[in-house]
Amino acid sequence: MIRDPAFLGEEAVILPPPFVHLPYNEISSTQDIAREKAQAGDQNFIVTAKVQKLGRGRLGRPWSSPEGNFYATLMLQPQKSLRYWAELSFLVGVAFAETFEGLLGCPLKLKWPNDLILNDAKCGGILIETVELPNKEMAVLIGTGVNLSFAPENTPYPATSFAAETGTILTVSEVLESYLRHLQTLLQSWEQDGFDELRLKWLKRAWRLGEKIGYKSAQEENQTGIFVDIDQQGCLILQDQHSKLTTRILTGDVLFPED
Ligand code: BTN
Repeated sequence: MIRDPAFLGEEAVILPPPFVHLPYNEISSTQDIAREKAQAGDQNFIVTAKVQKLGRGRLGRPWSSPEGNFYATLMLQPQKSLRYWAELSFLVGVAFAETFEGLLGCPLKLKWPNDLILNDAKCGGILIETVELPNKEMAVLIGTGVNLSFAPENTPYPATSFAAETGTILTVSEVLESYLRHLQTLLQSWEQDGFDELRLKWLKRAWRLGEKIGYKSAQEENQTGIFVDIDQQGCLILQDQHSKLTTRILTGDVLFPED
């Protein structure tokens, strides 16, 4: 019997197997609940919440989580070695791009390494974490937040929502169902055939590919260069405008022009 008063079992969406939907009302963060469930031995589930009180983004940044947006954490055990799991942020980005292209006919751009961009502003983000299961195997927790109805205010970057840009308010259920359908197809191809095809799908939607961009990493000063590619490991390839030499960037953030 489910005793958690925040659990909304009756609102669960029927998802393509093997995924099970665990819908919640107001919780701290879908990442936290998913971690608890995984550590208790549950598998192949996706936790959603209407509201998150302590939603978090990459690098411990807060993630504004009012009711009306999409907040989900998917628990998976990919059939590939852990060293490839960083590629999942590209896979999830493409799954969302395909989702919104299908639902709204609306072209989403993907900002390296894991932001969703609509009309040059951030409309969603991806947070990838790992968790150790009771049997000592590892699993991945794929957190995704998408601004369906509301964009946060006073962010250090331009932010927007699907409602603001398209006038359409999508439901969590329709996004969830489509996202997992696309994700499942992409997962199958990634597990069987590797990163090549996925990389091309991501590059087709890459935000500011071929343009001069700024980037910052945790350790270094902001730098600029031409964004020419992502390589076979998903690293950003920046080319110096003058020397034409390229640098391979493992971590960090592509900046918005006004940053
Ligand atoms: C980022 O752009 O920094 C990533 C944002 C990820 C936010 C989602 S919302 C659902 C899940 N729960 C969280 O607390 N964070 C992720």
